[in-house]
Amino acid sequence: MSRLLLSLLVCSGLTACSHESAPVTTPTATAPVAPMISTTSGAAATTAADPQTAQQIFVQRILPIFQSKNPSSCTECHLSGVHLQDYILPSQEATFANLVAAGLIDAKRPDESKILKFIQRTPPGSPLINQKVREQEYAAFREWIIAAVAQPDLLNVAADGQPIGPQAPIESIRHARRDQVLASFVDNIWHEVGRCAACHSPDRNQKQVAEHGEQVSWIVLNDPQATLDRMLNADLINATEPEKSLLLQKPTLQVEHGGGQKAVAGDRTYKQFRRFIDDYAQMAHGGYATAAEIPQPSDEVSYITEIWLKLTGVPAKYDKQLLQVDLYRATDSGWSTERVATSDRLIFGPQNLWQHSLSLIAPRDSAAAKEIASLKLPPGKYLAKIYVDQTGKLQQDYSAELDASDLVGEVEVTSKWPAGYGKMTTIAFPSSPQE
Ligand code: HEC
Ligand code: HEC
Repeated sequence: MSRLLLSLLVCSGLTACSHESAPVTTPTATAPVAPMISTTSGAAATTAADPQTAQQIFVQRILPIFQSKNPSSCTECHLSGVHLQDYILPSQEATFANLVAAGLIDAKRPDESKILKFIQRTPPGSPLINQKVREQEYAAFREWIIAAVAQPDLLNVAADGQPIGPQAPIESIRHARRDQVLASFVDNIWHEVGRCAACHSPDRNQKQVAEHGEQVSWIVLNDPQATLDRMLNADLINATEPEKSLLLQKPTLQVEHGGGQKAVAGDRTYKQFRRFIDDYAQMAHGGYATAAEIPQPSDEVSYITEIWLKLTGVPAKYDKQLLQVDLYRATDSGWSTERVATSDRLIFGPQNLWQHSLSLIAPRDSAAAKEIASLKLPPGKYLAKIYVDQTGKLQQDYSAELDASDLVGEVEVTSKWPAGYGKMTTIAFPSSPQE
């Protein structure tokens, strides 16, 4: 019989019993009285009659967690890389000794054990069903640890160095945390879905819903997490074959789309969507084995706006090619070194026309990155650099960028940059090619 249970039994049988009265020399002295035992003397008597050894608790309550195919409570905050199962080995001795050696069990103060702290973590608004799982895990580990630290035979087992706990690199664990995943979603998709809102946001799409049904409302108003969940549930994001995600295939017309062509492979929207979806898929399938594989966030942040720009007199030969405009702002020392706005879309050759709304751009973590959240472009003089993908290189490699070799012209433009489709800033396509 464990010394802990013995001392608890003694305690629970007395009315005036405190932790101080327990033998202070044993590691178990500070262990709080387990509620199950301390509540009534009747319950204590039954338990005491047949106290469970740590081994029995391990077999009955810990091993089932180890063998379970169900996700542990950890996955509520960790998309991948962390599972409670990682902290369990098939044998009790090895599990205990290696958890102690890894600093995850505190043999002197079992309730302070790091593994218990991990299990206790609860996200706000955690659904009842997850809380139940968490409570069960917590009760199982706590009971087992309290029983185990009271057994000298277990305390004397030396760790055999078997790996225990998550084996993914710490950078990978951090990257796959759901708060980080959400931040990346906001950065890459949420900031971009304004392009789709007219038909996919419930405050604006009554007509589409009437015609096509509720599933067309895949944007959840003001709630990026709920929008991500919905995209996953509705299979708009395909975590097994990311490039087959409907979120990519519909707007690029790779599959029929009620909204027509809204993007092309390789344009900015497509790149941002892919950036998130590819990364999500990798994490959902086990994550990154080394820190070096983790994709870096783009070094720019962007916001789409309702500021429209129109190019007239675009040569018809460019029909259906992707045209990208980058705007540089006039400063006291010449044009800004960084582009401040960009926009890309296919050219409509028959009407010699290109038009699209602008995305404001700033280097990540810069002061400008905060300013552009206002969705305003300061009035004044700008340089528009115009690129056309004449070789179709973005079609071949969506991750390619247009560069100096694709530049077809530069033109100065002065505007107040009003927002609204009806208030477009119009510039003439520069007639002579770049000097
Ligand atoms: C409420 C959300 C939440 C839950 C649930 C959660 N974690 Fe975490 N976890 C975090 C956060 C946030 C961090 C990073 C910063 C920190 O440690 O506080 C983290 C970091 C970690 C780390 C990184 C290393 C370290 O020492 O900080 C490990 C390992 C870890 N958690 C394991 C677990 C395990 C195992 C579970 C389930 C038993 C779990 N977590 C459940 C939020 C959570
Ligand atoms: C002019 C309106 C319009 C715009 C703008 C629009 N769509 Fe759509 N979209 C539709 C309609 C209508 C449907 C329903 C018919 C269909 O499935 O093609 C639809 C369906 C979809 C679906 C399938 C939804 C489901 O669950 O079946 C996806 C994914 C989608 N659109 C993505 C996009 C993306 C991404 C954008 C923005 C880049 C966008 N759409 C912009 C009209 C639009």
